[in-house]
Amino acid sequence: MAVEATADEVTLSVLDEGPGMTDAEKSRAFDRFWRGQGLTGRSGSGLGLSVVRQLVTDDGGTVALRDAPGGGLWVSVTLRASPRSGG
Ligand SMILES: Nc1ncnc2c1ncn2[C@@H]1O[C@H](COP(=O)(O)OP(=O)(O)O)[C@@H](O)[C@H]1O
Ligand SMILES: [Mg+2]
Repeated sequence: MAVEATADEVTLSVLDEGPGMTDAEKSRAFDRFWRGQGLTGRSGSGLGLSVVRQLVTDDGGTVALRDAPGGGLWVSVTLRASPRSGG
């Protein structure tokens, strides 16, 4: 996982080497209960990404999916930075 911080934002990036997602899959991936073709495992609920997006956007952040260089999935979560106290 990589972390990049500016004065206003912190971005967490997680890249994997799994099957990745097509653009059509990326566009549905945050839908509640939607699951792909089982490439990431047989069990699941289709809720993981929708819960992540709900929590992150409730806090004013964003979540983006893109292709990792090796063909896997690249997930970026951008959050508002909180001002440091005492700085
Ligand atoms: N790291 C990943 N690589 C490829 N596809 C993924 C990945 N994470 C999620 N997906 C796709 O998005 C769908 C929804 O993911 P998620 O909301 O986490 O639910 P679940 O993991 O329970 O299926 C998955 O079923 C899968 O098709
Ligand atoms: Mg999941």
